[in-house]
Amino acid sequence: MNTSRWQTLWLNINLATMTQGSSGYGVIEEAALAISEGKIVWLGKAQDLPGFDKANVDVIDGKGHWMTPGLIDCHTHLVYGGNRANEFEMRLQGKSYEEIAKAGGGIVSTVKATRAATEDELLAEALPRLTALHQQGVTTVEIKSGYGLDTITEIKMLKVAGQLSEKLPVTVKRTFLGAHAVPVEYKDDPDAYINLVCNEMIPQVAEQKLADAVDVFCEGIGFDLQQTECVFATAKQHDLRIKVHAEQLSDLGGTELAARYNALSSDHLEFLSEAGVKAMSEANMTAVLLPGAFYFLRETKQPPIEYLRKYGVAMAIATDANPGSSPICSLQLMLNMACTLFRLTPAEALAGVTCHGAKALGLSATKGMLKVGYDADLACWDIEQPAELCYQFGVNPLSALIKAGRKVI
Ligand code: NIG
Ligand code: FE
Repeated sequence: MNTSRWQTLWLNINLATMTQGSSGYGVIEEAALAISEGKIVWLGKAQDLPGFDKANVDVIDGKGHWMTPGLIDCHTHLVYGGNRANEFEMRLQGKSYEEIAKAGGGIVSTVKATRAATEDELLAEALPRLTALHQQGVTTVEIKSGYGLDTITEIKMLKVAGQLSEKLPVTVKRTFLGAHAVPVEYKDDPDAYINLVCNEMIPQVAEQKLADAVDVFCEGIGFDLQQTECVFATAKQHDLRIKVHAEQLSDLGGTELAARYNALSSDHLEFLSEAGVKAMSEANMTAVLLPGAFYFLRETKQPPIEYLRKYGVAMAIATDANPGSSPICSLQLMLNMACTLFRLTPAEALAGVTCHGAKALGLSATKGMLKVGYDADLACWDIEQPAELCYQFGVNPLSALIKAGRKVI
């Protein structure tokens, strides 16, 4: 073992490597972990540590804490203008999310505020949201556009998402969600809007390399299967990966369509059928579960967790941070809700924000696990056992955060 390139060595630490998918934490107690040039270069039992040059290695005492991969929030809409507290009040008075959307509120009302905001204003509004996630252990986040619904504003949102990664040590993966809602100016001709998404927006987004993936809200209040397929086909032509918001409020079959396009993930999924789960399994897709939206919209229909387990579909957990259905910037709270609301085990939930979150973003080869050769994005927690990360919230047990080998908290 050549240890001469080691730069940092963590000692006196317990590892939850998350290398076993949903079936466990992949625990190595009384461990050590070495880092070089932003990558994990050695990990294992401290007693098996090879000799190294103490003068040239920065040795850090892990104080008996637990280390996990840096957390991954694989589904957010955290760049937007304004807020929708007024709609929250309307819902408390009995109006449904769909009724509000149909009456010109919902996504369309955030579009107004987002169009009116400058890039700097959007950045200033988004920064505290990303900071909140980061301070709770997030080192990778996905951010979607979708509150512009015109070419200029969609591009503005994606640029702001990119700027966020320069403000904080967080990897930002961007997803173009032009097909999030029909903008008012296309109210009577949604197909014409889909043409704009396919013929103007996606080509520009691809050309300027502003996104890694394309998403569609496939739903009664979003886009139908035919419109969704147009967007998927165009994304494919431009070599962009595919994601979908599907089966959130009804079962339209968006997930099965996405499976035919080799999508990375289908997200929400409360109304997903067994056939849909099978299709996901065959296409090796990730199911992104969003307990914050389920909670905030007071949904009662559970996603088909038992089928997802039965067919071995990887389950990721994310905040869905957005102004309408999940104004929540805490992945720790999502860990708790995944267990209390969806009955995931704590190990499944933690896999959902590490290895499976990485899978939902196409990052399985570099992030989401403690493994030699993987990025040294690491979170240290002052806890006695990993389940505490799901059990308790409101007290932040994060004791250190390492991004690409560098201690940032
Ligand atoms: O993921 N479902 C569609 N989009 C968002 C909600 C966006 C909004 O209401 O502003 C979601 O829940
Ligand atoms: Fe969403």
